[in-house]
Amino acid sequence: MAETEDFAARIAAAYTSSGPALELGRGMLGGTTHPGATVRLPAAMANRHGLIAGATGTGKTKTLQLLAEQLSAIGVPVFAADMKGDLAGLSAPGEENDKVKSRVTELGVEWTPTGYPVEFLALGGLGPGVPVRATMASFGPQLLAKVLGCNETQASSLTLVFAYAEQKELALLDLADLRATLQYLVSDEGKAELKTIGGLSTQTAGVLLRKLVELEAQGGEAFFGEPELEVADLMRTTPDGKGIISCLELAAVADKPKLFSTFLMWLLAELFEALPEVGDLDKPKLVFFFDEAHLLFADASKEFLDQVAQTVRLIRSKGVGVFFVTQLPDDVPGEILAQLGNRVQHALRAFTPRDAKALKAAVTTYPKTSDYDLEEDLTQLGTGEAMITILSERGAPTPVVWTKLCPPTSLMAAIPTDSVTNAAKASQLWARYAEEIDRESARELLEAKVAAATAPPAAPPADKAEPKESGKRSKPGKSDSAVVDYLKSREGRSMMNTVVKGVFGMLKKKR
Ligand SMILES: Nc1ncnc2c1ncn2[C@@H]1O[C@H](COP(=O)(O)OP(=O)(O)OP(=O)(O)O)[C@@H](O)[C@H]1O
Ligand SMILES: [Mg+2]
Repeated sequence: MAETEDFAARIAAAYTSSGPALELGRGMLGGTTHPGATVRLPAAMANRHGLIAGATGTGKTKTLQLLAEQLSAIGVPVFAADMKGDLAGLSAPGEENDKVKSRVTELGVEWTPTGYPVEFLALGGLGPGVPVRATMASFGPQLLAKVLGCNETQASSLTLVFAYAEQKELALLDLADLRATLQYLVSDEGKAELKTIGGLSTQTAGVLLRKLVELEAQGGEAFFGEPELEVADLMRTTPDGKGIISCLELAAVADKPKLFSTFLMWLLAELFEALPEVGDLDKPKLVFFFDEAHLLFADASKEFLDQVAQTVRLIRSKGVGVFFVTQLPDDVPGEILAQLGNRVQHALRAFTPRDAKALKAAVTTYPKTSDYDLEEDLTQLGTGEAMITILSERGAPTPVVWTKLCPPTSLMAAIPTDSVTNAAKASQLWARYAEEIDRESARELLEAKVAAATAPPAAPPADKAEPKESGKRSKPGKSDSAVVDYLKSREGRSMMNTVVKGVFGMLKKKR
């Protein structure tokens, strides 16, 4: 075993910071807490991303809370998905009870109960919080395909429909717009136009339509539309220089995991598109906590994962740090895991073969240590303790340290729903986002078109005006791979270019 004498000094030196830093806790060795073994994360390294993992009830959310409040205190805005409502406690001062007192004494840290500036957001107004939405067009076909659980052909077909709408200047703002566009393409009036979209079959259009109706039946339309959430609203500070913590309250939509996890990805991609390059800063511009991250990666296509990996890799130089929160570290695909420089691994269980495999895999991702037997100790960590390794100021992984984490200074519990609702209503964002607006978009335009086409006198010329065939590949009703072939063709690629502009093929805003 390692030299105990210099443990505290070694750890404190490895976790030092010349600029602002987040206090994580104090190192433990052989069951003893060393108040001198300060474990901190330099704020400058928070954009090197992170992972907070651990079995249920081991302290992941409290770690997130601890990081969020300290980021806020040094003026860094935070975005966090609040899965269970317990993060809302960030807005209220913590309660000084015996457990907290003894932890604080053991660690030898200062502890002053403090509430932080929190903005509560709710997806489409489901649950307490300022309603936030994304337009269908900016959400884009790839993310929507993920929500709808599309196969490759269906996803490609969706891309074509988005491209068609873009070309015809049919604004896709909400679910109704997309549904109207698909309905139009399979209708008598729209069939000729369907032929102009190479490879899209009536059958696939029908399947997509059914999937959209299902999503609508689950309340999905609430998330899509205007006004769209502007990322600048997530990057605010208070007049006294604290970073505002935006908590997206997700408890009310916990039964729609595909939708909210994809929405979080949309938000990340939006940030990526909107923010300028800034390189490395002494503290990030925003830190984004992606809770229940395994939901994003479950059944994701290779292409989807590549896009996530790319976004995560590149967003760092835009000053955004992303922390994924999940139970098992191998919930996060290797390519993304490799980019998460800061690891806070709470206790893992080794009950099932799946757990044991995850445990072994986790051990291999840690730097070698003679202080601990990682495979054993990862199962022995107490609540609110974690095995930590981060990137030091020099960009090298720090030695692994069994850390007892500081208690958050804000409330470690949910606050009453009424308080969340009242806070949201009092927010300056409420006036801008509360009311959904419904401007003229694809649905109205297509309804008008169909009405004009079916009106007795004008009908025949209007129908004949659209017989454009776009080459031999455009054969609707063909085999499933027709659309994939089409997208690989020259025409297909040029059509794709009109729609796939940024990550996830997000359309540029037309304002
Ligand atoms: N840093 C800490 N300081 C003090 N107490 C803590 C700390 N971390 C965790 N705890 C205690 O452990 C409990 C569970 O922590 P937490 O809610 O963060 O677990 P979790 O891993 O998020 O669980 P779940 O997976 O169920 O969401 C807390 O209610 C608190 O009592
Ligand atoms: Mg939790």
